[in-house]
Amino acid sequence: MSDDPPVKAGSAVANDLSAFWMPFTPNRQFRLAPRLIDGASGMYYTTPDGRRVLDATAGLWCVNAGHCRPSITAAIQAQAAVLDYAPPFQFAHPAAFTLAGRLAALAPGDLDHVFFCNSGSEAVDTALKVAIAFHRMRGEGARTRLIGRERAYHGVGFGGISVGGMVNNRKHFGPMLAGVDHLPHTYSREHQRYANGEPAWGAHLAEDLERLVALHDASTIAAVIVEPMAGSTGVLPPPAGYLQRLRRICDRHGILLIFDEVITGFGRLGAAFAAERFGVTPDLLCFAKGVSNAAAPLGGVLARAGVYNAFMQGPEHVIELMHGYTYSAHPMGVAAAHAALDLYAEEGLFARALALEPVLAKAIHDLRDAPFVEDIRTIGMAAGIDLAPIADAPGKRGFEMMRQCFHELDMMVRVSGDTIALSPPLIISETEIGAIASRFRAALTKLA
Ligand SMILES: Cc1ncc(COP(=O)(O)O)c(C=O)c1O
Repeated sequence: MSDDPPVKAGSAVANDLSAFWMPFTPNRQFRLAPRLIDGASGMYYTTPDGRRVLDATAGLWCVNAGHCRPSITAAIQAQAAVLDYAPPFQFAHPAAFTLAGRLAALAPGDLDHVFFCNSGSEAVDTALKVAIAFHRMRGEGARTRLIGRERAYHGVGFGGISVGGMVNNRKHFGPMLAGVDHLPHTYSREHQRYANGEPAWGAHLAEDLERLVALHDASTIAAVIVEPMAGSTGVLPPPAGYLQRLRRICDRHGILLIFDEVITGFGRLGAAFAAERFGVTPDLLCFAKGVSNAAAPLGGVLARAGVYNAFMQGPEHVIELMHGYTYSAHPMGVAAAHAALDLYAEEGLFARALALEPVLAKAIHDLRDAPFVEDIRTIGMAAGIDLAPIADAPGKRGFEMMRQCFHELDMMVRVSGDTIALSPPLIISETEIGAIASRFRAALTKLA
């Protein structure tokens, strides 16, 4: 137990940081030099000591329209005063249906139905469960196997870490789900170094799915789940043609294809969804984060008509899918999402991301001669920069870079091992893109 005095309720600066067990954070180290944030507006965070911090990560890949947008704030405030909560089991509030309709209209093809939840992790678990249940509904109950991919991040539920492929997120948690296999990841420094957009090399890696089909037989495989662009593992754009091949192999064998678009949805790659950018429609599409501009939690799964209809066959009084969350389609998340979708449309933010893609790509690729830089990948409003690891201390250089950026250069970046990910809000200006690049170089120079 700490001997420090307790936090004074309402004090602007917390003086004892031990009660909050922080997620994905070295808790004890954090307390030595806390990175506290107490305000935000547009492209900037503010800190209790009065600094303005350039947000080069849109929070956690989620504040796509920038911070504290007045129309979203007003929508949440109005909603809180009118309907705080409505149970989503057996009852519903009208705005949930209109939001589902808007999302279906935004999504490609016949992704026409939306199952709501609150986070990306829940969206992934929902999609995996729907996939397995879908086959059972159609009399193919032996199709239970799930195929993920190395270096994938699908959140932190047992389903998500089972199909995920980041070893540190998996190794502490036992055997996880049974009956899971993995495709190889698509990154090769040798063949793809300094890729701008989709790398030319690597589409053939999709053929590994044929090997898994040969090994397990298609009749045991329910679904394949991939991030169209792997985000958390360091921004790995898909090789040109890879997703198309995966789609074809899934179709050949009756396997559902799930896209986890928790990061790529809502403009990150210059389209509503990566599915649209790459011209590949999955059977199930997971979303969260940008759907509500992160102003209130919301996530969900879009399902193609054929998937949804398979559930709508039995007696009408029977619940078709035994699954849901107390906060599915929570009124505050739904209100935030309606307002966020309005903003995205009014300000043309998805097209803006596409138009700015070459500007971000140039600014970040120009860093290739900066100290420690080993590789750079860019696509849409996202960039991954690999730094040379310190011998025997993997992750330390990346962590120091993140700290340096925040404390010395007033910029928030995201670190994953020795890779720094950049994913600014889509409202970013060309000047601010320049500022990200120059601060990044300055931070690296200070580290050198
Ligand atoms: C691709 C992907 N899937 C799922 C998740 C999990 O989302 P959440 O943290 O909202 O559970 C994330 C989070 O970054 C993600 O990037």
